[in-house]
Amino acid sequence: MRQRKAKDLDKRLARCKGHMVYKGDRSMQKYCDCSENLYVEIGCGKGQFIITKAAADPGSRFLAIEGQETVVLRAAEKAMCVCGETNWPENVPGEERMEGVSADLNNLRFVNCFVDHMADLFQENQLSGIYLNFSDPWPKARHAKRRLTYRDRLREYAWAVKDGGFIEIKTDNEGLFAFTLEEIAECADVLRTEEMTRDLHAADCTYESKKITTEYEDKFSASGKNINYVKVIINKEK
Ligand SMILES: C[S@@+](CC[C@H](N)C(=O)[O-])C[C@H]1O[C@@H](n2cnc3c(N)ncnc32)[C@H](O)[C@@H]1O
Repeated sequence: MRQRKAKDLDKRLARCKGHMVYKGDRSMQKYCDCSENLYVEIGCGKGQFIITKAAADPGSRFLAIEGQETVVLRAAEKAMCVCGETNWPENVPGEERMEGVSADLNNLRFVNCFVDHMADLFQENQLSGIYLNFSDPWPKARHAKRRLTYRDRLREYAWAVKDGGFIEIKTDNEGLFAFTLEEIAECADVLRTEEMTRDLHAADCTYESKKITTEYEDKFSASGKNINYVKVIINKEK
């Protein structure tokens, strides 16, 4: 959903500069060209998931991509609060304050762009994993190619991720999940399903991925909605 433009957007984005890199700019290339594992979230929303991941794994690098300026601003401002550069503003609700998490977050950057082709952003085999959390469902059949799990996009992710790396997908949307499983099956030559469940937060589900949640996931889980989840491994070498 399109967010209304934040007040003082440009000024506030400029204040977050230390947490951002810019598409097509040397800053992004320099950050991504690293010896550590590099993990990317496409459509990071307000950032809770990727901030928690980065705080828990300081030995890896994380890049959070978000197309909407106002939304990436909220995520970057959240990162500033987590690393103690600013206090939590009054207008951030209690459940969105990540008060138990504290880290320098030198291993996380945000980039404001809508991902179209992976080759516009990354090199072949540059990434160790990709997270797609609660991606826009694009429910109309004529918009199927816009879904982030459309087969051509999955193939582009497989190109950007190293052999043995992964793509993890979570969604509340049953239609998008069914479509995603079909698209994964179409890419069986490069993708192997490792984990799959229609109820990630069921008591008997032991997948690690239930431990770090997104804002959408918390909201849907609290309302009793099941969370669909699939993890695929990139399998290029036959
Ligand atoms: C439904 S929200 C989910 C946000 C977050 N992942 C969560 O689970 O709380 C989807 C987000 O993905 C962003 N988005 C959609 N398509 C994108 C693309 N191609 N590149 C980058 N961001 C995208 C949207 O702007 C939106 O903020």
